[in-house]
Amino acid sequence: MNIPRPPGKRDLLSLADVQGEEIHALFARATQLKAAQKSGEVVHTLKGRTLAMIFEKPSTRTRVSFEVGMYQLGGHALFLSSKDIQLGRGEPLSDCARVLSRFVDGIMVRTFAHSNLVTMAQHATVPVINALSDDFHPCQILADIFTYQEHRGPIAGRKVAWVGDGNNIAQSWILAAARLGFHLALASPASYGPDPQVVEWAEKEMAAQGGRGSVTLLRHPRDAVKDADLVTTDVWISMGQEKERKRRCRAFANYCVDTALMREARPEALFMHCLPAHRGEEVTAEVLEGPQSVVWDEAENRMHVQKAILEWLMG
Ligand code: CP
Ligand code: NVA
Repeated sequence: MNIPRPPGKRDLLSLADVQGEEIHALFARATQLKAAQKSGEVVHTLKGRTLAMIFEKPSTRTRVSFEVGMYQLGGHALFLSSKDIQLGRGEPLSDCARVLSRFVDGIMVRTFAHSNLVTMAQHATVPVINALSDDFHPCQILADIFTYQEHRGPIAGRKVAWVGDGNNIAQSWILAAARLGFHLALASPASYGPDPQVVEWAEKEMAAQGGRGSVTLLRHPRDAVKDADLVTTDVWISMGQEKERKRRCRAFANYCVDTALMREARPEALFMHCLPAHRGEEVTAEVLEGPQSVVWDEAENRMHVQKAILEWLMG
């Protein structure tokens, strides 16, 4: 299947880098790749290709789904902990990007400052994929929306509720609302909302597309969740914020997705969480393990969607 792609290198640093039609094409390809994998069909579209995976933070899902995804497509993935390569000893990102580009066909990076990804992308001559920065996690949200659509059909026009930190995951949902035209209501404690620039970007994009979709910033979880088709949340303490635990636990104490909160959503609403989850903090065990939760499908779909992304960027 041909996914439209302008000539030259493309990167996926955030959902600003991918258009709505491209996302639909990626989802169509992910559906094919998922079906092929389930039926045992071998799809070696990336035979001989290599992906370098740089991790400055821990990972279970992202690492395994990219590594296995590359293997299933006939390619190879290199796990590079930043501690074990010269980056950890201060080699400039720009040098690392240029050297890796001589060896590999794509570079995936999990990092802290989003500007690190921008620098990598500027200097790499191969595609760079954001595998989570402090600002965005585009692969996660593509997998989440793919999962929603598998269960409930098109997300355009639906209401998605975000409960909690206006972080990398929430900000990716904001860009997605602009790209795919759904209504996003976010409830975050004061001082923990999303970056106003991200919201402004999304609002401009939505206006340019004739007002499809919306982003509403709220304080109270119940206001956001009311009549939602999908309820989603994330940890109170993201990677790198461990020292803020006490302050964050206090600020987020009323931002737990529990059964009472889920009752405010539509009866057919789904629950999602990018994982890892902290039962008893941002979500109760009852919701996470309950009938509305699709978190395991969501985790699995990381691999199928990322395989489509890898083919698109590196094929
Ligand atoms: N959701 C997610 O990115 O999980 P990992 O941190 O385990 O990769
Ligand atoms: N917001 C979380 C997401 C983990 C996948 C973090 O950045 O740690």
